[in-house]
Amino acid sequence: MPQKIDRLLPVLQGQPVIPVLKINRLADAVPLATALVKGGLPAVEITLRTPDAIDAIRLVANEVDGATVGAGTVLNMRQYDQAASAGSGFIVSPGTTQELLDAARTVEVPLLPGAVTPSEIMAAREEGYSVLKFFPAEQAGGAEFLKALVSPFAGIRFCPTGGIGPKNVVDYLALSNVICVGGSWVAPDELVADGKWDQITKLAAKAASLATSA
Ligand code: 3PG
Repeated sequence: MPQKIDRLLPVLQGQPVIPVLKINRLADAVPLATALVKGGLPAVEITLRTPDAIDAIRLVANEVDGATVGAGTVLNMRQYDQAASAGSGFIVSPGTTQELLDAARTVEVPLLPGAVTPSEIMAAREEGYSVLKFFPAEQAGGAEFLKALVSPFAGIRFCPTGGIGPKNVVDYLALSNVICVGGSWVAPDELVADGKWDQITKLAAKAASLATSA
């Protein structure tokens, strides 16, 4: 079954940068997401890398007006189900497995699966997926690598994440096969720990103003 692109595209096309969040303290989730929405980044990805991640997704989904919260680092069907039940609007996985593709078939919430190599991209394409995460972007070859995929994989678009920040984000967003990027630089740990929400809103506003070409 093809990717639920009609549900995924509005999220990814709505902003150039998707904040990738690791919630260390549950109480930070709502003010952090609120600060990002205020700065113009309504879609946020909360990674399932901390014990409170699912509760954080639930809180943001229920309490932050205008936010679309997604779940990141989803590795299996159990996490897919949990994240969807908590109110996730989209699911992000670092790679692609048959188990996740099966979960995506049975759960309404759309999947943005990861693929890096030509073979992985071709396998995802055969499953009907045309929008993919590219992770870890910088370590895997960066913007130059992605640029080399434009010609052989016409119609495939990527959301690169991993090692992207103010220094290189424009290189990625300039590519015709990059729909948006993901990154944690808009919510630095120090600012979150100190509750400096206004500064996070400023970082978000700067990121939200970046131009995309895809
Ligand atoms: C991740 O999933 O870890 C994201 O790619 C975020 O990476 P970053 O912290 O390098 O932005």
